[in-house]
Amino acid sequence: MLSGKKIILGVSGSIAAYKAILLLRLLQKEGAEVKVVLTPSVSKFVGELSFSALTNGEVLSDLWEGGWSDHVALGTWADLMIVAPATANTLAKMSHGICDNALLAVYLAARCPVMVAPAMDADMYIHPRTAANLHSLAEDGVIPLPVGSGFLASGLIGPGRLLEPEEIVGEIKDHFARIAYQPLQGQSVLITAGPTREPLDPVRFITNHSSGKMGYALAAQAATLGAKVTLVSGPTQLVTPAQVERVDVSTAQEMYEAVHAVASQQQIIIMSAAVADYTPAQVAHQKIKKKGDDLSLELIRTKDILKSVGETKQAHQFLVGFAMETENGIENAQRKLEKKNLDLIVLNSLRDKGAGFGHDTNKVTLIERGGTTKELPLMSKSAVAKEIFTQILAHWKPINP
Ligand code: CTP
Repeated sequence: MLSGKKIILGVSGSIAAYKAILLLRLLQKEGAEVKVVLTPSVSKFVGELSFSALTNGEVLSDLWEGGWSDHVALGTWADLMIVAPATANTLAKMSHGICDNALLAVYLAARCPVMVAPAMDADMYIHPRTAANLHSLAEDGVIPLPVGSGFLASGLIGPGRLLEPEEIVGEIKDHFARIAYQPLQGQSVLITAGPTREPLDPVRFITNHSSGKMGYALAAQAATLGAKVTLVSGPTQLVTPAQVERVDVSTAQEMYEAVHAVASQQQIIIMSAAVADYTPAQVAHQKIKKKGDDLSLELIRTKDILKSVGETKQAHQFLVGFAMETENGIENAQRKLEKKNLDLIVLNSLRDKGAGFGHDTNKVTLIERGGTTKELPLMSKSAVAKEIFTQILAHWKPINP
């Protein structure tokens, strides 16, 4: 699939730099022609010779050695640049246009799409500066890959691990597949994601455990398939996927308004947000002070956004909802599908290890109108997103094919 593709592998100085050698080999095995650019600190982890020996010397590590315009030549040569691992420092410099090493010069000169695979410690990854840098890179069109979560070299446990080389190759293949296969080109897709926050007073709110990962994976996949994507998102820590327009909301009412502002122009609507079903009847203007031993809250129903979209659904629209059930899953989900006038419902499993809130993996059952069900195994949320779109594309027809 990568045969003849010209790829620049940018490597920055991380303990994960050794994985870049494996990535280089895998890309070459897939038929890609790979040239490498290193930041100066890579040599603290892996020798330049390793890259040089595997690429016939196609390694740039010093801006001042070789031809003065090697970075420009590289930047115009490639079909794709992938920075893996991308450290917090390199991401920060890329997002600010700083150009004090060969990798950064190649990045600024690159005319091709650029992907970054971050690798750093958990606290560095979740630091608001790093998040802001990734966000601004994504706004510039850079494709940020997710990170893995788990044991980090520092001994911490959390997000920040470089994706495995095989996963990065998968993302690169998807990228080229996206260019080749865009069945949603010219179509509009609306996705809701994340939790809502229902305020009680100026300091407290009612929310849920939704991380937004499933909805963001769906938005990324819709963009991959060429759609114009609007992502209406509750509060999350996630980076907006490339080529996705994100509308931030907080409460269920705000989500309702944001959805209805654009719903009629959409061809496909997927509601994966975990919307609060109830909201406080009153929002106190001042912080609620403790008084007796008990406190009762009066809650009122929020509007069911999905149901309201189902009621005004047009013939050409395809509507997908999610269901989270703890018992009688299939029957309850089927009932929800009918009640809300859906074309497809995605039944989430909370019982399986690795599925549901906050995980990078999910286990779902897809239930179509008409009753056909497809139970999927535990897989990454981006793989689930692909399956959902495969299902949609098998049934939905564009208005102007
Ligand atoms: N949903 C919505 N607006 C709400 C509540 C839910 O749009 N106020 C959507 C969710 O985005 C999801 C689907 O409805 O796609 C299922 O939500 P869920 O809470 O599982 O089901 P409910 O229909 O609310 O029923 P119940 O709470 O009784 O299970």
